[in-house]
Amino acid sequence: MDLSVVGAGHVGLVTGACFADLGHRVVMVDNDAKRIAGLKRGVMPYYEPGLEELVARGTRERRLTFTTSLREGVASSTILFIAVGTPQKATGEADLAYVEHVARSIAQCLPAYRLVVEKSTVPVQTGKWIEHTIRTYLRRKLPFDVASNPEFLREGTAIQDFMKPDRIVLGVESKRAKDLLVELYKPLGAPLVITDINSAELIKHASNSFLSMKISFINAVAQICERAGADVEQVAEGMGLDPRIGRPFLNAGTGFGGFCFPKDLEAFIKIAEQLGYDFELLRAVRTINEQQKRGFAAKVQQALWVVKGKTIGVLGLAFKPNTDDMRYAPAIDVIEALQAEGAVVKAFDPQAMREAARLLPKVKLCKDPYEAARGADCLAILTEWNEFKELDFKRLKKLLRQPLIIDGRNLYDPARMKALGFRYIGVGRGRVPLPMRGGAAD
Ligand code: UDX
Repeated sequence: MDLSVVGAGHVGLVTGACFADLGHRVVMVDNDAKRIAGLKRGVMPYYEPGLEELVARGTRERRLTFTTSLREGVASSTILFIAVGTPQKATGEADLAYVEHVARSIAQCLPAYRLVVEKSTVPVQTGKWIEHTIRTYLRRKLPFDVASNPEFLREGTAIQDFMKPDRIVLGVESKRAKDLLVELYKPLGAPLVITDINSAELIKHASNSFLSMKISFINAVAQICERAGADVEQVAEGMGLDPRIGRPFLNAGTGFGGFCFPKDLEAFIKIAEQLGYDFELLRAVRTINEQQKRGFAAKVQQALWVVKGKTIGVLGLAFKPNTDDMRYAPAIDVIEALQAEGAVVKAFDPQAMREAARLLPKVKLCKDPYEAARGADCLAILTEWNEFKELDFKRLKKLLRQPLIIDGRNLYDPARMKALGFRYIGVGRGRVPLPMRGGAAD
């Protein structure tokens, strides 16, 4: 089939590259000329495992092309995906200006029947507005359909998530639209959930908010564990084996970040409010998440007694592993809170160093975990990168000024850390140990 994807961001580019890999002809459209020029040369605008190879293959085999001209994309494709950004406004609502602009521009150059599919995460009823907008700005009477096909791609595993989805949600309201999308997704062999457009839009918001709720729930349980002397990892294990609950997304930590959960949660609270419903539960999810980030900074402070003038080595800056994305990363809140108290922060992240230089200019960026630990009063783990799981702990201990690890991702076994001579503080892992004479483990 001939497809266009408008918006070469995290969602759009993965979608386009994957469809091209499945054998379709895909035109990627973006109004950022620099981004398009880069993509033509094989330069990725962000890091996503496997994406560069996929784009290179699609380009080489001429199934994947790039342009800044929306008209070009509309002219050659039956299905047009809208995957432009829906950033957060100061009010918390999603800013739909880009979506509206694309819908209007599509209307102005529509040559014949087209299926316009919204892929961006949007509030419920956006599909209806897209349809209304296209109808309003059409130059002559032409048939078209609008559909909603929300994405569930996680950064870092986006290609795998696309190729092996748990489900594909298709919000369609005509047979033609349904047939086209069913045909397009058939090769993936995933369960199809076919709904009306409003329901498809809600599935996305409700799913992301539910997952955020799971994280905040376990973070709240972690608080209880610290006060009661229990281990949240064991609690999560015991809860997670119940298939009605499930173990995924029960990892306590420094709170959720990234460009989806915080933004989608905020937008869902706002949509509910506009529809006359106070989604109190989700407001609590947001509050717990904020407390969790602040709480981690406070934990570092308590462990060091006085933070002013101390050096803190940080491992991990990206909002999660396998990405260079630092948007809404808990690391930003934690580091800024510690800097505000007068701490000197040194940090290492395997991918996010460029972003960090821009967002956290006062942090001393290090070339590896050992440099981050050298001369630091403690080591704080903020992202659970695989490569942090097995470090040379003997070397780290020698490099640190005091053998203190404050682990915001529960990456290590407390007993092992204790045996290695560290004072180890995780999240929700028993009562927070106090320093002993000589600075060793509790
Ligand atoms: C999310 C959704 O998972 C995906 O379906 C959606 O379409 C886009 O948003 P993503 O933002 O890439 O994906 O990251 P995800 O893996 O879901 O993690 C989000 C945040 O939650 C991260 O900051 C992560 O560290 C945190 N998290 C996740 C936890 O703190 N604990 C967990 O158990 C799981």
